[in-house]
Amino acid sequence: MTSTVRVPAKINLSLAVGPARDDGYHSLATVYQAVDLHDEVRATSRDDGRITVTVHSEAPSTGESDEVPVDDRNLAVRAADLLRETMGVEEGVDLAIRKAIPVAGGMAGGSADAAAALVACNAEWGLGMSRDELQELATRLGSDVPFLLHGGNAVGGGRGELVSPVLARSRGSYHWVVAIAAVGLSTPAVFGEFDRLQDGADVEEPRVPDDLLSALRAGDPAELGAALSNDLQAAALSLRPELQATLDLGRDAGALGAIVSGSGPTTVFLAGSEAEGLDIAFALAAAQVCADVVQARGPVAGARLIT
Ligand code: C5P
Repeated sequence: MTSTVRVPAKINLSLAVGPARDDGYHSLATVYQAVDLHDEVRATSRDDGRITVTVHSEAPSTGESDEVPVDDRNLAVRAADLLRETMGVEEGVDLAIRKAIPVAGGMAGGSADAAAALVACNAEWGLGMSRDELQELATRLGSDVPFLLHGGNAVGGGRGELVSPVLARSRGSYHWVVAIAAVGLSTPAVFGEFDRLQDGADVEEPRVPDDLLSALRAGDPAELGAALSNDLQAAALSLRPELQATLDLGRDAGALGAIVSGSGPTTVFLAGSEAEGLDIAFALAAAQVCADVVQARGPVAGARLIT
């Protein structure tokens, strides 16, 4: 048998970063939106208990250091392994990942594959675990994994893993332009640069901005564009100063808002319509400031079985 799951990428509409905690993570208050840039994970059970992975990338190549690992450093493999251990499964699984989400791009591509692997293996091994049970395992795999099971719009607290669907009643569908950089950035390096830039100053407890929540409730792209915020942006720009020109270009081409996605270096631009998005995409592509430009829509559902 084979079970295939589609899983979206995420954008942080706002990302407020608090002080480093004792466990090394930073407390966060973030608003996530899932967008329709999808990876696919196909799980095929095998009798011998082994877990294997292959990766076929449709995302632009992002340099050698960003290549997706095909051993147990791969988060999808760790997800399958965790599920197997937890449930005492004897079978193994072959995981085949088709990647469209940029690697090391700040859109949670690795976490997305982990969320997808949980859903795919749950089906493939006939475990019948509930979404809530999978959610609990997801928190152990990474800060963004629970949101990618969930999808839609949601607030993330803790280190990002405490997802609350308080925005279930929010309206609107948004047109994004996503500029993918040639070389990825490591998330820990960007958090490290955030700490360095703080230079020992007190960091406030993070909170979600009110203007962002009201923009989402109203479903108003112009309001949302003005309310986008990312506390990691200065750190990402410090490591990749050239991203500033990309942000400026997108704004000049009519973006309602322009922001580094999560820890970067992907930048995202909110457009007023699909046609306006195309103008922004053309401007970015023509200026050759990034490796690839794609359009995406959000919010969309989280990890879902498609077979
Ligand atoms: O949770 P995840 O494994 O995706 O996090 C990757 C790295 O990003 C962590 O090891 C940590 O260095 C950094 N991080 C952080 N605070 C967060 C989330 C991630 O410092 N809230």
